[in-house]
Order: sequence, then structure tokens, then C-alpha cells
Amino acid sequence: MSALPTVDVYDPVRYESGIPHDDFRVLRAQAPVFRHPDHERPDGLWAVTRHADVMRVSRSPELFSSSRCTAILAEMTEEQHTQQRLMMLNMDPPEHSRLRSLVNRGFTPKVVGRMAERLQDACDTIVDSALAVGTGDFIDLCAADLPLIVIAELMGVPIEDRHKLFDWSNRLASATDGRMDQNGDAAVAVLEAYAYANDLGAAKRACPADDIVSRLIAKDDQGEELSELEFDLFFLLLMFAGNETTRNAIAGGMQAMIDHPDQWERLRENPGLAPHAADEIVRWVSPVNGFRRTATRDVELGGQLIRENDKVVIFYASANFDESVFEDPYTFDIGRSPNPHLGFGGGGPHFCLGRHLAMLEVELMYRTLAARVRRVEPLRPPNRLRSNFVNGVTSMPVRLIPA
Ligand code: HEM
Repeated sequence: MSALPTVDVYDPVRYESGIPHDDFRVLRAQAPVFRHPDHERPDGLWAVTRHADVMRVSRSPELFSSSRCTAILAEMTEEQHTQQRLMMLNMDPPEHSRLRSLVNRGFTPKVVGRMAERLQDACDTIVDSALAVGTGDFIDLCAADLPLIVIAELMGVPIEDRHKLFDWSNRLASATDGRMDQNGDAAVAVLEAYAYANDLGAAKRACPADDIVSRLIAKDDQGEELSELEFDLFFLLLMFAGNETTRNAIAGGMQAMIDHPDQWERLRENPGLAPHAADEIVRWVSPVNGFRRTATRDVELGGQLIRENDKVVIFYASANFDESVFEDPYTFDIGRSPNPHLGFGGGGPHFCLGRHLAMLEVELMYRTLAARVRRVEPLRPPNRLRSNFVNGVTSMPVRLIPA
């Protein structure tokens, strides 16, 4: 147990050079449900690091609630808390189910499958333009645009405004070090996004279309409609969740390929592996590091007694490397199958709404890159986001060598 007291998997600084695998490995082996001594708050803060326990917490909303905020270290005023509880991410069934049902059918495998052609066109355009430029930041060249185009189209945001989504989403992500509420720029970004959402909502009310914003502002079967704040929070959630995550998967996936050139060659020779590669990329990168829940009563988890109201953080980035589930977890293997990673969550009511869409985006982008690019050469080491929530890359200078 010697190394335990130094393990602080909440510290954003520890993520600057990647997921703190050594810390998670120690925790999984010695203290899979661990209350860090530096975080002795009256409401406790437990790190849950094993695959089975992360699944159990995710699938038991009656024991581990989302309604008392899911941001990892958030300290909120009562007013902020009241607002956040209007976002479906921070709700439990049955309230959560009502909001989720408003958007669920826009994200089924069938609906997503119908977007494949459009997505492939977007990938072709992005990779063609990237090759024409040749040298630059891989995020700008290849990773940022696809998620933006897709989410803008789904939501009914005019395509020329997609860079606004990029900007707001970035400013929010830069503040995910547990002090989001105190970060002035993130707060301004939120207000800008709300104002934009309200204008867009008004435009769609005047002229509804087949998009998510039009669906969100419409009355439901019972004649009820979302309040302005509920709508704004929905807009914010979809914008952030659909954008930041997929971009980091695409960028982090390329870093993994650069670090494992044999896997890049394997994909180029076997493009049929692209769906497996997409899963392995999400496991390896774990774009969402974890989320928080709150115990609704005293409950046993991984041999520990969690007290009612204790905070519990489920770390997908640790579960995805659990030696008891994944053979050679630290080997990047684009043919890994089965691959029961928890990159999209551990199941349960909040299981990622956009997972089919995200998988298709990553798969098609990697098929396209593997077909047209012989090699991606790093020009400098990447810069990573300093965050305990988003495992992200902020810049990645590269040269693309065409096939
Ligand atoms: C929820 C990961 C892409 C929309 C989540 C959760 C994770 C996650 C870990 C929380 C699950 C839980 O609490 O059980 C990812 C990753 C992505 C991705 C790694 C890309 C590789 C997307 C996309 C969208 C999206 C493209 C499209 C809009 C959402 C929403 C939620 C969510 C709305 C909240 C669901 C709820 O509270 O019911 N995602 N996501 N995600 N994701 Fe994704």
C-alpha cells in the first residue's frame, strides 16, 4: 500500500502528459474504491477505478444519483446547482427519461446509418484539403471539422457558424479543471452560446425544419415545452458532448498511430479493420475521463462502505485499462475484439447518446486517412489539455505524406 497516499487522480496537472496510468494501476490493484486523504470533505470523494464497479455505479441510478451534479470536482452555489439540474446529464429517471426521449430518435443506428454517405463526403473534403496544405496542426487539418459539421447539421446550426461552436466548446473545455464556475471566460462563452441558442430557437420557431433544435422547441405530446433555460442547457450539452469528445478521439487516435506505426500500416493494409480501430481508439484515448455520482444511501462498493451523500467518481479512463477485462491493456491493438470499453460510459440511463454517430465519424475518418495518407510525421510533441475531465490534445503539428 506504500504508494497510495500520493495518488491524486483528480489533479488536472497529472493529465498534462496523458492519462496517469501508473496511478490508476496502483489504485485498481490496491484500493479500487479509494477515498483520497487530501479530499477529506464531509461528503467524501471516492475514486472508482475497476471496470465492474464503474459499470455497477453507472447502471444503478437509484443508488448513485446524477442529480447532485456530475462534474468531477464541482463546488457550486445553490443557484448554479439549481440551473445545472435542468440539464439531462444531471438528472435521474424519470425526469431524465422525459428529456432524453426528446432527442433519442435522432441518434438511433438507423438514423445514423443514413448519414454515412454525407459523412464520407465530409471526410473526403477534409482529407483532400489537409493534403493540399500538407503541414500544420492535425487538429485544424483533420480532427476539428468533422464533428463540427455533423453536430451543426444535426442541430440546424448554419454551417458557416460552426466555428462559433468550436470556440465556445474550446473555452468550456479549457475550464474543466474543477473550477469551471469560477472561470470568467468559460462563463462568458456560456452566455454567448445561450444568446446564440435563443436567436436560433426563435428562427426555428418561425421556420421549423427537420433538426434537433426545431424538435426541442416544439411542444411534446402533452402540450408541454422546454423552458428557455432548459433549452439553452440542452444546446450547450449537445454542442459540447458531440464536438470536443469526437475531436479528441480523432486527434488522440492519430497520436496513437504515430506512436504505433505497425498499427497504422496494419490499418492501411486492412481497411476493413476500421470499425475495430475506432473502438480501440476510443478505449485508448478515453476522451471522457470520468463523471461523478452521489450515493443516495449507505451502500457497499468494492469492499468499502460508501455513506449516503458521499461523492463517487467513476473513471472510464481507468476501467478501459482494467487487466481483469482487457488482455494486454497497454497494447494498442486496432484488431482488438471483443472490446468492451467504457469510453461511452458504463451503460445505464446516461449511456452516450451520440455513440453510434461518434463511432461512424471515427471509423470513416480513419478509413479515409488510411486510404490517402501514407504517413503522418510529427513535427513537435503534441500539447495536451490540462484537465481531469477531458483527455484532449490542443495542438499537434504534423506533416502529411500522401499515399
Ligand atoms: C454522454 C462519451 C460523442 C452526446 C456521454 C458519456 C460519455 C460520453 C462517457 C456519459 C455516459 C454516462 O454517464 O453513463 C463520448 C465519447 C464520444 C462522444 C467518448 C466521442 C468519441 C458524442 C456525440 C454526441 C454525444 C457525437 C452527439 C450529440 C452525448 C450526450 C450525453 C453523452 C447528449 C448525455 C446523455 C445523458 O445524460 O443521457 N458521452 N461521447 N456524445 N453524450 Fe457522448
